[in-house]
Amino acid sequence: MDEYFELLKCRLLPERYNHSLGVMETAGKLAEHYGMDVKKAETAGLLHDVTKNCSESEHIEMFKKYNIEYDTELLRAPKIFHQITGAYFVKCELHINDPDIFGAIRYHATGHKNMTLFEKIIYIADFIEPERDFADVDTCRSLAFKDLDKACFAYIKFCIEKNVKKGSYIYKDTFEFYNSLTEVV
Ligand SMILES: [Fe+2]
Ligand SMILES: [Fe+2]
Repeated sequence: MDEYFELLKCRLLPERYNHSLGVMETAGKLAEHYGMDVKKAETAGLLHDVTKNCSESEHIEMFKKYNIEYDTELLRAPKIFHQITGAYFVKCELHINDPDIFGAIRYHATGHKNMTLFEKIIYIADFIEPERDFADVDTCRSLAFKDLDKACFAYIKFCIEKNVKKGSYIYKDTFEFYNSLTEVV
């Protein structure tokens, strides 16, 4: 892991680096709680925002470099570029060939309609890591260890409401994850 700490220190702003350490720690605790691979969860948590501080043009360059298809819908949601480029960066540049880690990074911002347990762990760890200070985050912190789906549902509602208030475009995967959760919570 040491080489990843150095890499992230170079690639990320200090607050984003601290956030990544927090997600690593929280993802590890959640993985242990839910009987998942702790090391893998820590790796995905640590690296999930590896391309977060790239510019839009750098993301587009990575879309081309990694042969990632991008359509007009995706181009309307630049805030989620980093979940896609991050997943490919980890796979292609760091040679971490693990489908769980790839999927968890690939969907950590939006979710999708068939989220795995591992993907949900990284998704919610991103929200409840110790540096986060949103309203109701403490409720979500304890909920995540009791009912992961309910915690994800609380987080996704928070995300959707925030975007609606701002009048921002919401990518379809977010709605599909939200709708899938309405069936189980
Ligand atoms: Fe992110
Ligand atoms: Fe994050």
